[in-house]
Amino acid sequence: MSVTSMMLSSSSPLIQSLCIRIIQPTNLIKKMQCAGYPEDKLCSLADRLPCRETQVTTLLSLMGEPDQYSYPSIFIYGHRATGKSHVVLSIMKELELPHTFVDCVECVSPALLFHRVLLAFFGPDAAASLPRCPSLSDFVRLYKQMSSKTPATQTRYLILDRAERTRDMDFSLLPALLRLQELVRDNVTVILLSQVVWEKFRPNTGCFEPLLFHFPDYNKAELVQILSRDHHPAYTPELYASYINILLGVFFSVCRDLRELRHLAALNFPKFCEPLEKGEAKESDIHKLWRNIEPHLQRAMQTVYLREVSSMQWKEQQMDEKETTTPRGLSAHAHIELPYYSKFLLIAAYLASFNPARTDRRFFLKSHGKIKKTNFLKKHEKTSNHLLGPKPFPLDRLLAIFYSVVDSRVAPTASIFSQIMSLVSLQLLTQIGHDDQLDAPKYKCAVSMDFILAISRTVIFDVVKYLYDFL
Ligand SMILES: Nc1ncnc2c1ncn2[C@@H]1O[C@H](COP(=O)(O)OP(=O)(O)OP(=O)(O)O)[C@@H](O)[C@H]1O
Ligand SMILES: [Mg+2]
Repeated sequence: MSVTSMMLSSSSPLIQSLCIRIIQPTNLIKKMQCAGYPEDKLCSLADRLPCRETQVTTLLSLMGEPDQYSYPSIFIYGHRATGKSHVVLSIMKELELPHTFVDCVECVSPALLFHRVLLAFFGPDAAASLPRCPSLSDFVRLYKQMSSKTPATQTRYLILDRAERTRDMDFSLLPALLRLQELVRDNVTVILLSQVVWEKFRPNTGCFEPLLFHFPDYNKAELVQILSRDHHPAYTPELYASYINILLGVFFSVCRDLRELRHLAALNFPKFCEPLEKGEAKESDIHKLWRNIEPHLQRAMQTVYLREVSSMQWKEQQMDEKETTTPRGLSAHAHIELPYYSKFLLIAAYLASFNPARTDRRFFLKSHGKIKKTNFLKKHEKTSNHLLGPKPFPLDRLLAIFYSVVDSRVAPTASIFSQIMSLVSLQLLTQIGHDDQLDAPKYKCAVSMDFILAISRTVIFDVVKYLYDFL
């Protein structure tokens, strides 16, 4: 008898002990996995899902044979890109099991979810019979009606991806989905996929407990194995595997996300092959290829991974770099990391330097009253302030703009003043005309537009909106 054919609560000790056994597959379970499923399809599944053999075996044993009743609900959780959706969908598609895959992000209301389920399982007529604002009981009633006409010959699977979204819907929805099988008296299993652990799902009022199944993170060797499969047809698989090894050597400590790593691998591969194409190295000169690519990857880690520039900009910068050896543009500043308020001080300084003082009221005062448009936009001012260069501004103007742009309330403490001095010593601000102690100091912003754009992006501030030249 299969494990899944037992209709027991997961809280019962028997089920729990079975689960523990399942999650550490034994030979017995390995034999069970084939029951009811064609061998060739299982083989191709194993081939499509490297490093997830254990999870596939376990899931198949939880699911049981297609015509048997399966466990009512299975909750699969794990970090992002651990293959939850990919594994479940591949199993469903490869083994041709009746299923519907619903991304809960797309279902803003339970009505949409009900519609999707009925449409997938019973066709458009069933979905059309739903009332305009269907309640849960409408859905259950219709489902029962339809399934009595067309009873399931195989377990139907309802897969809810990003299932944490169901918590924001009707409070009774999740408990009902967990025991849908019992409510509709049909051979249906709900599989919930989420990055959030079950403890954060469980309603206070209690509910039917699903079977919990964890997808662990891929380790380095597994990532190498998976990523090496994307090898370029023009090069040998061995070369690509050694490239992936180098790539992971740099990125593994900061990024374990398969999706991001795959993207980075594709993005930087042409650079890795450069010496091969130029005929400067052979495929066996791994050390030479490594020396060529390593500094490049280090730089990529500072820019692309932090999303300071897009992949497109990164590629363009690499082209330019062929002419100038020093990194240009945004990546040149990637190593400058400023404190949060210093970034806003610098943004305020930039705005003070490049905006005429008379426009401050318009930009930074919430209730600025009526300012004549003609006064504000002086059309005869043809020259761009950016072409004229930064203008000096007094400290009080800088602080006024700073308090206006920074989101939270900041007290004018000594720390803020010392941060201004630090910006001066970093030569991001220039102090001018402070010979006389009676004279208030004036400053000028000494950074470029690119720099300030990069800085404002890190604090999610749209600086262009506040620049007079770009109005
Ligand atoms: N074992 C694997 N072999 C090949 N590709 C894989 C494997 N695991 C995951 N992938 C690929 O990695 C990407 C992310 O996988 P998937 O979408 O399944 O992750 P997930 O766990 O559902 O992540 P999320 O929680 O963000 O939804 C997909 O493009 C998938 O094809
Ligand atoms: Mg997913």
